[in-house]
Amino acid sequence: MKTPVISATGLWTPPHSISNAELVESYNQWADNWNLEREADIASGAIEPKTHSSVEFIEKASGIKSRYVINKSGVLDPDIMAPRIAERPNDKISVLAEIAVNAARQALDRAGRKPEDIDAVICAASNMQRAYPAMAIEVQEALGCSGFAFDMNVACSSATFGIQTAADFVRSGSARSVLMVNPEICSGHLNFTDRDSHFIFGDVATAVLVEDKDFAPAEHWNILGTKLKTSFSNNIRNNFGFLNRAAPEGIDAPDKLFKQEGRKVFKEVVPMVAEMINTHMDELGLDKDGLRRMWLHQANANMNRLISSRVLGREASDDESPTVLDTYANTSSAGSIIAFHKHSDDFKAGDKGLICSFGAGYSAGTVFVEKSA
Ligand code: COA
Repeated sequence: MKTPVISATGLWTPPHSISNAELVESYNQWADNWNLEREADIASGAIEPKTHSSVEFIEKASGIKSRYVINKSGVLDPDIMAPRIAERPNDKISVLAEIAVNAARQALDRAGRKPEDIDAVICAASNMQRAYPAMAIEVQEALGCSGFAFDMNVACSSATFGIQTAADFVRSGSARSVLMVNPEICSGHLNFTDRDSHFIFGDVATAVLVEDKDFAPAEHWNILGTKLKTSFSNNIRNNFGFLNRAAPEGIDAPDKLFKQEGRKVFKEVVPMVAEMINTHMDELGLDKDGLRRMWLHQANANMNRLISSRVLGREASDDESPTVLDTYANTSSAGSIIAFHKHSDDFKAGDKGLICSFGAGYSAGTVFVEKSA
């Protein structure tokens, strides 16, 4: 049986960033316009006015200070409140595949790998641009990889599910080198007119190269163990799909965009994930004191604080549980991979860490890694 390892990661960050102040200003303008248009109904008490969003709330409740987006002007225009990303003709690569290729090229460069050595591509992300052909096959074509490619979606847990899938392919001999990409255009499924969630997400793309240890570069990450879990919940939903494409779009059909019961998610997911990490650590014979760092899913800073304290038995330092939420916001499946990519260069041989993701489904995944000699 082959031994899978992580050879390298890649990250592509969009050029535009939106601060909380900019986002709140456009939301508040949109809300004022909405109220003005319904002045009579609001005055008669028939409908409730929209209330303002606030920078202070966003930062305190989530830890988010800004987010990167592919299109800034549409998101911030109170008459649009959505990204405006031009449709591309069929002979051009899709935006989702393009940003995945950007992240993938960095991972290949860092591993010193040629595209023709890759024999499987997995596109693991929350929101695919279309049903088919698969974005993963576009990535395969654009890079010039051989073998097979497919898309998979496990919402915010897509990357850890993708890593386990890739590792299983390597272990079984189905593939020697698997490129797993997480292009996330979260701004496309976020309702920027929903005060409760308009601040949550950002756009990004990450890539992880999972390979047979005998083929991988000398410097790599041993995969000590992977574990996946799902448990049904309605608390995070997005009902958009091809069976309801005739439904009105945007603010009139908010359930066709991201929707959540944030409080319930917080309360239910924290214990589920902490228990999962602790159980997996026990199964692998690992000790919390031997865990150098946790690269947790980046949804909410308070959530990560609680999860890490349930694992360590005390509050984790920024070094032990780094955040990228402040600059990237929640980037769905890519969050824990951005944290891993940006905060792992200081690891020495034998240092151990945990990549962990969780989200809609509910779903959660843990990947324990160790820096190679
Ligand atoms: N600006 C100002 N006030 C706001 C606001 C905004 N943008 N959004 C909500 N509020 C208000 C609410 O109206 C509420 O006011 P009230 O107490 O007068 O009723 C108050 O702030 C608290 O709202 P609540 O929704 O309970 O906030 P919260 O502390 O639960 O934080 C989240 C909201 C979304 C940040 C938090 O619940 C969260 O991150 N949950 C986990 C989400 C998650 O991980 N999802 C996975 C996605 S992949």
